[in-house]
Amino acid sequence: MFEVKVGFLGFGNVGTGAYRIIRDNGSSITKSEGINLKVEKILVRNSKKKREVEIDQSLITDNIDDIINNPDISIVAEFMGGVEPAKQYILSCLKNKKTVVTANKELIARHWPELQKAAEENGVGLYYEASVAGGIPVIKVIGESLQANNIKEIMGIINGTTNYIFTKMSEEGRDFGDVLKEAQELGYAEPDPTSDIEGFDAMYKLSIMASMAFHSRVSIDNIYREGITKISVDDIVYGRELGYTIKLLGIAKRTNDKVEVRVHPTFIPLDHPLASIRDSFNAVFIKGDAVGNIMLYGRGAGDLPTGSAIVSDIITAWKNRDRHTGINFYNDGDGKPNYSFNNDWETEFFIRLTVKDKPGVLAKIAGLFGKYDVSIASVIQKDRLKGVAPLIFVTHPAKEQSVMKAIADIECESDVIKVENVIRVER
Ligand SMILES: NC(=O)c1ccc[n+]([C@@H]2O[C@H](COP(=O)([O-])OP(=O)(O)OC[C@H]3O[C@@H](n4cnc5c(N)ncnc54)[C@H](OP(=O)(O)O)[C@@H]3O)[C@@H](O)[C@H]2O)c1
Repeated sequence: MFEVKVGFLGFGNVGTGAYRIIRDNGSSITKSEGINLKVEKILVRNSKKKREVEIDQSLITDNIDDIINNPDISIVAEFMGGVEPAKQYILSCLKNKKTVVTANKELIARHWPELQKAAEENGVGLYYEASVAGGIPVIKVIGESLQANNIKEIMGIINGTTNYIFTKMSEEGRDFGDVLKEAQELGYAEPDPTSDIEGFDAMYKLSIMASMAFHSRVSIDNIYREGITKISVDDIVYGRELGYTIKLLGIAKRTNDKVEVRVHPTFIPLDHPLASIRDSFNAVFIKGDAVGNIMLYGRGAGDLPTGSAIVSDIITAWKNRDRHTGINFYNDGDGKPNYSFNNDWETEFFIRLTVKDKPGVLAKIAGLFGKYDVSIASVIQKDRLKGVAPLIFVTHPAKEQSVMKAIADIECESDVIKVENVIRVER
């Protein structure tokens, strides 16, 4: 039986979860894997702070050197968050021949080539299962279980906070601001919710998944990103009448040598497998050319679910210790993609307008769509009130840029009071 000494960088939600799993499930891990996991040292910011779990105080340090220069520690698990100093600490660990396991999606998404290069040069591994979708083993599935496939498409609900907000808005008819406030009170949303509600968190995760799936780096700079703050209960109600539910999706598609990657609120049909994913749950839907469609579902965050991914990576890292490889993005390491990015994708669109209630308006707007080759699949005109009427269009598949040009013209049309929202539809 081997004893594997692990250093922790951070001891907040994820660190505490990983610690509890090692404490509580350690003996069954020893039985099944033949290793004894031992947390040797834990770096924190404030070494005096009272911790959620009972812990031998001598494990706690506020000096990174106690981990970097400890020759007994072979694996370091990072869950401090943020780019710096996490990046410098991880690079120092890799240079000191320690394999690194991390939950830090922003760091991996932004600096993967540099970190991977350091791992390779030093003959150690870099693992990041916990960085995408918490407890759902999506990185191992894409990187190991589906390698016989050309992955064509990934669509994921990869941010629990926004899925919780959309679920409450849809099921209880409550406004975005109201639900966000409640989510913050319940601890489901951060005091500063920007990263979640503006789609940054989902963008980091999509960058990692798409890079793995397409065997080349998909930088965050290549991802179109739109948050959920403009979605209203009216959009959701009209969408439902048309047979849709709304989700913040991370979407990555590959056709031949072109890739499109985007994060935005999306209507999907009510019978789509992702439509049933409620509350703060996550799910990732993957299309492979051999396997067909698969979907992974579970907790995308939380101490124990994310800790589960961390401890699994620690065990995998130990098993791979002689091969000295973490799963990587399988590209040549210089970070250059081997395909081009398509920002004029084709999809259906839901367009909600408020217009003057008078004859001929519908025909004028239809004419403006026609000018840009955007064909209309359905139109709903709702209850008129004081001379104004809501008008909702759903297009057939149309090019993004053509629709945006048509919208720009529609906004200038004198009978259009407001373009309330434009929401993409996926099937
Ligand atoms: N929370 C989740 O469910 C979840 C899920 C997936 C991925 N992640 C990722 O996991 C990481 C950690 O998340 P978390 O929720 O566990 O964060 P957290 O609760 O805020 O914990 C952060 C920990 O890191 C320590 N720390 C922060 N900056 C430090 C510094 N400069 N030097 C030393 N220690 C420092 C803190 O020390 P003190 O305790 O002394 O303040 C704390 O123990 C993030 O990258 C996050 O994106 C989180």
